[in-house]
Amino acid sequence: MIPSSLIPAIHNIAVSPIWLETFLIITFAIHLMLMNIAVGGTVIVAWHSLSGGSNISRDLSGKLPTILALVINAGVPPLLFVKAIYAQFNYTSSVLMAVYWLAAIIALLVGYYGLYWHYYRYESLKDGGRKGLIFMVLCILLYVGFMFSNNMTLMLRPDHWIEYFDNPHGFILNLNDAAFFPRYLHFMVASLAVGGLFVAVLGKMKSDQDYIETGFKWFVRATVLNITVGLAFMISLPRDLMLMFMGKNMIATSLFGVAIVGSVCLIYLGIKHKVVLASIITVVLVYVMVIMRHLLRDAYLAPYFKHEDLINTSQYSSLYLFLISIVIGLIAIIYMLKLMYKSGRS
Ligand code: HEM
Repeated sequence: MIPSSLIPAIHNIAVSPIWLETFLIITFAIHLMLMNIAVGGTVIVAWHSLSGGSNISRDLSGKLPTILALVINAGVPPLLFVKAIYAQFNYTSSVLMAVYWLAAIIALLVGYYGLYWHYYRYESLKDGGRKGLIFMVLCILLYVGFMFSNNMTLMLRPDHWIEYFDNPHGFILNLNDAAFFPRYLHFMVASLAVGGLFVAVLGKMKSDQDYIETGFKWFVRATVLNITVGLAFMISLPRDLMLMFMGKNMIATSLFGVAIVGSVCLIYLGIKHKVVLASIITVVLVYVMVIMRHLLRDAYLAPYFKHEDLINTSQYSSLYLFLISIVIGLIAIIYMLKLMYKSGRS
């Protein structure tokens, strides 16, 4: 069977795809950084719980429910943009892995509740209960991330969709893709770094050296490890896609160069405990890598799809409505965070 015959028909979009791609990149990077803080923060709390907990883990556990809520909210816009641009690929991959995919929603609800439970019952829970709870939440977050990586890679591989004819009940994952595990690991190790950086930022705000040192320990070690994991990810890509970052595509190659130099700078800044500069460069690097990931996705899909193929109906009112609601939404979120901060519950 020809895999491309399994791809559903192309659809209409309301505005030029460049708008959707731009907003996808902007909003996905925000989702990613918050997700990194949520996953990395949970790892740090879980790790500290093994030695009876600490001020840092107690403080961090109070912030995690809010951060997870922000992760979920910040995940919605990129989800809509992915569905708008890559509908025929992403709806199909979601259906192929439907059981695991839908289970992720239930898992997320349990994890979210678990974080609240962990914080508000911190004193009344026994040590074993506290540890059990935070490790359960950690497993849930790792599961949700794992399913996102599966979905985002399965959508790129129509050649793997043929498995449907042997496995038609929504249990297909993309595990036989050589790039899958290095990719997933790259996101998770990045979470340890950004989670550590978040602790260092809290330390800077509180002028607490213990926070800064602990945070940067996680940040530096994870970043060193992630250079290796990132390179392993690149090597695991199909050869012509890997070559994109090695001179075949100048934009991709330049971004790759910036990412490598930036990562080395981050290690230096982490060792020197430079909170502000490390935070700024981290944000810039996340955007660089999100753009690289976007270019990679388009290269994967190039045999089947180009953005120019989308039929643009030029109905810009929906874009304006989106822009107005995102501005109102952002103002509301900032206002709520301010209220929370004032009430001392942040
Ligand atoms: C704490 C829970 C979550 C974790 C750990 C998580 C983790 C991840 C990871 C690791 C990726 C990258 C996958 C890859 O490219 O290989 C990802 C992508 C994505 N996530 Fe999340 N996610 C979470 C919750 C959510 C939620 C609730 C939504 C939507 C409401 C969401 C929306 C997205 C979207 C749309 C992408 C892909 C964007 C793109 O391909 O450009 N995520 N997530």
